[in-house]
Amino acid sequence: MCGIIGCLGTGDVTQMLIEGLKRLEYRGYDSAGMAVIAQDGMKVHKVVGRVAELERTLPEDFCGPVGVAHTRWATHGAPSVVNAHPHLDSKGQLAVVHNGIIENHRTLRSVLESRGCVFRSETDSEVLAHLIAHYYQGDLLAAVRQALRDVRGTYGIAVISTLEPDVLVAARNGSPLIVGVRDGGLLVASDASALVAHTRDVIYFEDGEIAALRADGLRTVTLEDLEVSKTVERIDWDMDRLERGGFDHFMLKEIHEQPEVIRNATRGRLLVEAGEVKLGGITLSNRELKKIRRIVITACGTSWHAALVGEYMLESYAHVPVEVEYASEFRYRRPLLEPDDLVIVISQSGETADTLAALREAKERGVVTVGICNVVGSTIARETDMGIYTHAGPEIGVASTKAFTAQLTVLALLTLRLGRLHYMTPETSREIVRAMAELPVKVERVLEHAEEARAAAELFAVTQNCLYLGRGFNFPVALEGALKMKEISYIHAEGYPAAEMKHGPIALVDKNMPVVVIATRDRVYDKILSNIEEVKARGGRIIAVATEGDREIRRHADCVLYVPETLDLLTPLLTVVPLQLLAYYAAVARGCDVDRPRNLAKSVTVE
Ligand code: G6P
Repeated sequence: MCGIIGCLGTGDVTQMLIEGLKRLEYRGYDSAGMAVIAQDGMKVHKVVGRVAELERTLPEDFCGPVGVAHTRWATHGAPSVVNAHPHLDSKGQLAVVHNGIIENHRTLRSVLESRGCVFRSETDSEVLAHLIAHYYQGDLLAAVRQALRDVRGTYGIAVISTLEPDVLVAARNGSPLIVGVRDGGLLVASDASALVAHTRDVIYFEDGEIAALRADGLRTVTLEDLEVSKTVERIDWDMDRLERGGFDHFMLKEIHEQPEVIRNATRGRLLVEAGEVKLGGITLSNRELKKIRRIVITACGTSWHAALVGEYMLESYAHVPVEVEYASEFRYRRPLLEPDDLVIVISQSGETADTLAALREAKERGVVTVGICNVVGSTIARETDMGIYTHAGPEIGVASTKAFTAQLTVLALLTLRLGRLHYMTPETSREIVRAMAELPVKVERVLEHAEEARAAAELFAVTQNCLYLGRGFNFPVALEGALKMKEISYIHAEGYPAAEMKHGPIALVDKNMPVVVIATRDRVYDKILSNIEEVKARGGRIIAVATEGDREIRRHADCVLYVPETLDLLTPLLTVVPLQLLAYYAAVARGCDVDRPRNLAKSVTVE
């Protein structure tokens, strides 16, 4: 949730910390702070609000060759200057930034207070500073290691101390942490996006590892004090992909990247001539794949909606029973899992705490696990038995857009792979492969009509409630459309299977209520028209997402957003695009901060 960065160099690292924080701000943005070791001791500066405010108010003499910084998404204690990180020990010699949750912080705090430590904040994180100081006996790495042995919970931390100004200690358990290796120093951050301006050579940490970074390299040990040797890996994306590229917001840029995203997710995997797919990451043999009796897909948020579309795809075309579970439920429910089950976890970030815990639960039960992740080298990607990367590139907008279409693309590929092993004929497979190859151009066509979505968004300028309806493959898209709207415009939006509307939500419909209906031409088209009429009869305003060439729908809807025709299982890849645009323009019209919606975080690394 929070973003952390630490830098160790030869010159002043303040600017590097600020730039890194700006890149990390999408992870949390209610307060920010930094600490550096200057000639005359520890300097700390913190603010409530954005990194820009931190930068604007930075004292002139704030500089030093080693420092840590943090952008916060509050969990314990309101956003305030005292609760902002870094946190210091009682003597102000040691500074800690922390991402995660210390579960036993209350017990630790009362023990430390009884020993004379003076706490300043309400955060769980502050105990780390006091605990490390308590164990310090001339070796910062050893003190951090000993302190973390007392801690229960999740953390990614970076620690500096005036008593050892040439070292920065970092550790992880359940929260991501990456070291960047560059000429003239090392960096550590919770996210590669903070590092790529300086280096693409990185070292990933595993849970339970602690590293001491020095100018001449790093030493890594486990909590049990065993030495670990780390290897440097290269990340394959660069700065261009982290810039807004002329768009007003990252979200709009990412919506417009979707044609390319689908091309990237299918590149080398879609064999159009042969009508086949190739998924190198799926290392099970055809015989093993055929033995799968049931698939359980688990995820959170938008990834959970992708999982629902996957359920419709896999059951209809691969004839494998599928269940979709919220990861947070799956992990605590002791679900029934059989040896012939396959568990798929979907996560853009690859770091979502509940999804990671669900994965570990499945692995503990001995079930084969497959990851569908976007962030290469993320924890989920590394811990699953095998996986398929979505290759959507870094997604910065907090509201997920291109990651969703990439996930749907991968799920369609998986459907083809499994379908061909069961009942899918070569003709059907070829037809789907051809239709998938046409998707990027079709998404481009939807994007050319962005202006119409902008006009339709005016219906949402003053409303407080709205409803999204869809059926079949487009029911999960209705959920996703509603999620986008509430995430960034703060309008209360609900998604429903269209026919289910009569069992409750219809009571809400009046002339002020925009109702978005996905009404593409498919086998439930006539049924959807009846649902539209039910809304119209109560004065509701209809925004329809319909198939190009459908003139009939104009008689029923106040606004129509058209998408090109495609196969039923692929329609979600097209119908979601106008809904993303609708949410985007509604949020802009309402003056909301699109890329950093209130209370949300891009990657939820705490429960
Ligand atoms: C957060 C984000 C959502 C995302 C969800 C799951 O809530 O704001 O956009 O869909 O986490 O994230 P994941 O990285 O696991 O897909």
